[in-house]
Amino acid sequence: MQTTQQTATTNRYAKAIEVSKRIRWDIDRDVIRGRKFDVTKKFLPDGLSKVERLPFLDAGEKRLVSQIQGRTYANIFGLVERYIGAKMLEISRDYWLGDQVALEALVRFTDEELKHQELFRRIENMMAASMPAGYHFLPQPNDVANAVLGKSTWAVLGLTCHIELFTQAHYRQSIERDSELSELWKDVFLFHWKEESQHAIMDELEWRRENAKLTPVQREQAVTDLIELVAAVDGILQMQSGADTDYFLTVAGRWFSSAEIAKLRDTMLRAYRWQYITSGVQDERFLKILGSMITEAQMQRIGAALGPIVA
Ligand SMILES: [Fe+2]
Ligand SMILES: [Fe+2]
Repeated sequence: MQTTQQTATTNRYAKAIEVSKRIRWDIDRDVIRGRKFDVTKKFLPDGLSKVERLPFLDAGEKRLVSQIQGRTYANIFGLVERYIGAKMLEISRDYWLGDQVALEALVRFTDEELKHQELFRRIENMMAASMPAGYHFLPQPNDVANAVLGKSTWAVLGLTCHIELFTQAHYRQSIERDSELSELWKDVFLFHWKEESQHAIMDELEWRRENAKLTPVQREQAVTDLIELVAAVDGILQMQSGADTDYFLTVAGRWFSSAEIAKLRDTMLRAYRWQYITSGVQDERFLKILGSMITEAQMQRIGAALGPIVA
């Protein structure tokens, strides 16, 4: 016999399956539709790119910053989806001979992340064809996945929940309302957002299930792991924001003062920290879930570790 709690959880998984089936899309038929990227338009919206901090750039240069960041934005999702898909397959083991509804929901989740990775590989090739040569996306999906998957499941699910919640916040708060974006770029993130909405619900269910298994000592270690994962994300952002600034300087093809170059490097890093860390950790839903699992002292420990990054 299932408990009332189990029934409620099964119902949430059933709902995730139902929505997933209803909105399911195809890369070519629904998203790309034979289109190319319009490089006369922006990719990433201003609210995410922080381009307003760079008044010394002309309109074309600002658009280039938006396109470089928008290209990295797609690549970052392709990067994290490698570990997310693997983790979901791993935790689905608990349902193999149990709740078949939860199992189906997690298998669909993994299948969608595989499709998203293909989508992001496809559009990286398309963006490469329409932008000047010299862009490099440095982090390697399998290296990052190996490092992430070495941490406790609680921490990995916490990081994942954070990512899948900020994906939704970015779309609703910045991407959807910006009418000056490349239509194809915007559609990629419209379709991605539709499937990610279900993922965030499942992340929370699985994170809470994992949380219930932990002793206080294990949870204390899991909090340390989560802090280390965020620090590792920040390391990736420092590396890629530097590479993207170098690419911009090469492609822009004009002289910038050393103060302007410093401002560009700083803005690129701040923008990436905002996109991939700060906007997620400040998300109301994320804070509510996290706050319900950990102590006040643990919350302060996370806050202190994040301090220099979110400043
Ligand atoms: Fe995804
Ligand atoms: Fe996802």
